[in-house]
Amino acid sequence: MEWLNLLMRWLHLSSVAVLIGSVAFLVLVLRPALAAQSTESRRNFFLSLKIRLKMLVHGGIAGTLISGLYNIHLGWRTALAPNLEVFLAKLVLALAVLALVIAALAGRSPGSDPLSPRSRLLTWGLVLGLVVVVLSAYLRSLHS
Ligand code: HEM
Repeated sequence: MEWLNLLMRWLHLSSVAVLIGSVAFLVLVLRPALAAQSTESRRNFFLSLKIRLKMLVHGGIAGTLISGLYNIHLGWRTALAPNLEVFLAKLVLALAVLALVIAALAGRSPGSDPLSPRSRLLTWGLVLGLVVVVLSAYLRSLHS
């Protein structure tokens, strides 16, 4: 089913863009911008956007997982099994990124401070996420 393959490819790329884009925004824009504010005011601000942010990020994670599993089913024999080491490295790092993002945004308090040590897990999420994008692009180039 060509249309389903295309839909799932679109879902994977847009979910990943939402996920990595949200993390990049938090790490590179929001955290530095709020650093000069008092703990109280940055907590209140972060709490006010956290529900929407979590809906967006959790939607991105769900889309990534659904489309990722479909992609495995689609390309296992032709593309993934022959490049197993690269694929496993991508998968382990990708799951680590999802776990880091979920952990960093879990709960309401005290994790609602965007500068808390737990929120700093997002920096690792961003770095590893970019490594995953490079590995995925490499994987794709091996069979396109
Ligand atoms: C941080 C999370 C992730 C990122 C940044 C990411 C990124 C990407 C990118 C950029 C592609 C290339 C898509 C294309 O050109 O069409 C891709 C393909 C793929 N992804 Fe992911 N992905 C992530 C998570 C996952 C997960 C959790 C799974 C499995 C459950 C998965 C399975 C796959 C598969 C099987 C492919 C096709 C590889 C190929 O064409 O050889 N991805 N991913």
